[in-house]
Amino acid sequence: MGPRRYCLQMLIAGIAAASLVTCSCTTTATPTGNGQAVVDFDAILLRRLILNNSATSNATDVAAVSVHQIMETIGYLFKAPRILNETFDKAPELNNELFWEVVHGAEALAGIKGILAESEVVALLDSMAARVAQLPTHLCWPVLRRVVLAALMQRRLQHGPFGLDAAAAAARLCVRFFLLHRTAAGRKGIIDFFHISKAGGTTFCQLAKLNGCRTQSFAARRNCLIREFDDVPRWVNHTLHVSLAPRGLRTPWFANWGSKQRNSVSCHIRKRFMMRRRFNILANEFTVYGAQRIPRNAHVCPGHLNVLQLRHPHLRLRSHLMWVWALYDHHFKEQASEFFPTHGSTHWRALLPAATDNYYIRSLLGESVYFLPPENLTLTHLAAARLAITQFDVLLLLEQPSMNEVLYEMAIGWGLGFGAVHARTSSQVHEVGRQGLPDSEDWKELLKQNELDMDLYRFGSLLALLDVIVFDMAREAGLGSGYSSVSADGGEGGGAGNAAIAGSRAVNPGDDEQWELPGNSTTQRSMCGFVSANEADDVLPAWLVV
Ligand SMILES: *[C@@H]1O[C@H](CO)[C@@H](O)[C@H](O)[C@H]1NC(C)=O
Ligand SMILES: *[C@@H]1O[C@H](CO)[C@@H](O)[C@H](O)[C@H]1NC(C)=O
Ligand SMILES: *[C@@H]1O[C@H](CO)[C@@H](O)[C@H](O)[C@H]1NC(C)=O
Ligand SMILES: *[C@@H]1O[C@H](CO)[C@@H](O)[C@H](O)[C@H]1NC(C)=O
Ligand SMILES: *[C@@H]1O[C@H](CO)[C@@H](O)[C@H](O)[C@H]1NC(C)=O
Ligand SMILES: *[C@@H]1O[C@H](CO)[C@@H](O)[C@H](O)[C@H]1NC(C)=O
Repeated sequence: MGPRRYCLQMLIAGIAAASLVTCSCTTTATPTGNGQAVVDFDAILLRRLILNNSATSNATDVAAVSVHQIMETIGYLFKAPRILNETFDKAPELNNELFWEVVHGAEALAGIKGILAESEVVALLDSMAARVAQLPTHLCWPVLRRVVLAALMQRRLQHGPFGLDAAAAAARLCVRFFLLHRTAAGRKGIIDFFHISKAGGTTFCQLAKLNGCRTQSFAARRNCLIREFDDVPRWVNHTLHVSLAPRGLRTPWFANWGSKQRNSVSCHIRKRFMMRRRFNILANEFTVYGAQRIPRNAHVCPGHLNVLQLRHPHLRLRSHLMWVWALYDHHFKEQASEFFPTHGSTHWRALLPAATDNYYIRSLLGESVYFLPPENLTLTHLAAARLAITQFDVLLLLEQPSMNEVLYEMAIGWGLGFGAVHARTSSQVHEVGRQGLPDSEDWKELLKQNELDMDLYRFGSLLALLDVIVFDMAREAGLGSGYSSVSADGGEGGGAGNAAIAGSRAVNPGDDEQWELPGNSTTQRSMCGFVSANEADDVLPAWLVV
């Protein structure tokens, strides 16, 4: 909370004040000449430019989102297409001419090639929308979408609110991106959830179940993972675990860091495996694909709808230590203490080498980075991880429920989601787990080692914030399909058409969560959202993206 904090709220206040001066007509829908309702770009921008920090208030430093950081993010996005090509071998969007044409349009809009007049802006936005409409529909084009949003944002910050015609053109462009996203999600047919441990993945998998998705198993520990794909996380340093273990104890599944190579499965085989069994969601709780030896080959599968959820790195880390402590307690009872000669940060770092050291960056760059020694992780990795995030089709922030509600409905097509945060840790696990945390000086030391992840998280948050503007525009334009907020414990939750979940939640680590909607819920159940758009087709159609 230092003086360097020109926080986002100030930015918002600035924008709001500017709107009041220059435009007293801010309403959500404004009729134009041809009688069509226009979605007000500015109103949505103002509504979405707020990160609600109440859930993370005790973790340092998320609140410090400055104007400078927003401008830095925008600048980074403009550079992204070119550095993507230098960083990764696979970035499918870059191979299309139209992609570059729209990127050039975005640069012009942002004023990189000279300031445009309002009338030129309208023409430019319309020509960009026309090109977006021609893009092939096998991809969601997340990189392009974010570059365009960055340009809209830059124009807005520098020139004040769009005029009516430009706002309408901006809305048309956003709607184009939404339609492209929805169509592509249907062609992809599979949600690939990148589950970064302790960032809300269990909840996501259970929500998938409630929304009618299908996978190998929704049970705890399986958690939407596909056994054959071997995407289980590698947490505990196997060598260290074994060296501490009293004789005669079985080595548990989670002591697999450094001892369990992934049996790698190509995107092509993953897709066919899933389609044959009519599964439409999988989770990957390890690293992105393809980079066991060659970091440049790290990639997500372009034929999947790739979803990533981020949680504040400090809260994620804390939750992870508590979870692992509770796992030891549960598995080894009174012998658990053998594995913890101390619970200081040095021991934790040796025990959970990846999870305690910039876990996001390691997970997002493949095995060759996941297993790097701490001293070898650099700013170059941070930059690459930013690009990796930019390629995910959908980006959720655990601590921003109102944002996620828009994304569940408009980016995944789910009719049901939570109105509030529901991380898995039960109060019992919490009570036990807390005893394993390092003391506060030591804890600060540990946080210091994770500053690269903190930076990545700030970038990701701003990216999500840009993203949600597109989906919110589409919803305001009437393209939503309905959404109900559910509550986890039968109490009253938010939202109209509100339903409650019956069934037990985990008490011990590894217990099942059995979430069900009670028998005659009034809630309309979709079948896993957009990815099921074409699943009535009997044979695998030729246009399927594999
Ligand atoms: C912020 O989030 C908290 C809980 O996460 C919620 O109670 C509060 O209403 C939210 N505030 C706003 C302004 O959305
Ligand atoms: C933040 O810390 C204060 C005191 O340190 C505590 O009372 C409060 O419950 C904490 N809030 C959260 C969200 O953890
Ligand atoms: C990407 O880089 C390669 C050289 O590494 C170059 O041949 C290719 O033209 C570049 N592609 C784009 C789209 O810039
Ligand atoms: C894993 O454990 C071994 C055995 O104690 C230790 O030598 C090694 O340094 C640990 N790995 C890391 C990355 O801390
Ligand atoms: C880590 O960095 C050290 C020193 O720069 C280097 O000698 C070593 O080869 C690196 N290790 C890996 C796995 O890259
Ligand atoms: C749901 O409602 C139908 C009729 O409205 C009824 O026949 C059925 O038994 C109900 N199912 C449950 C589980 O309550």
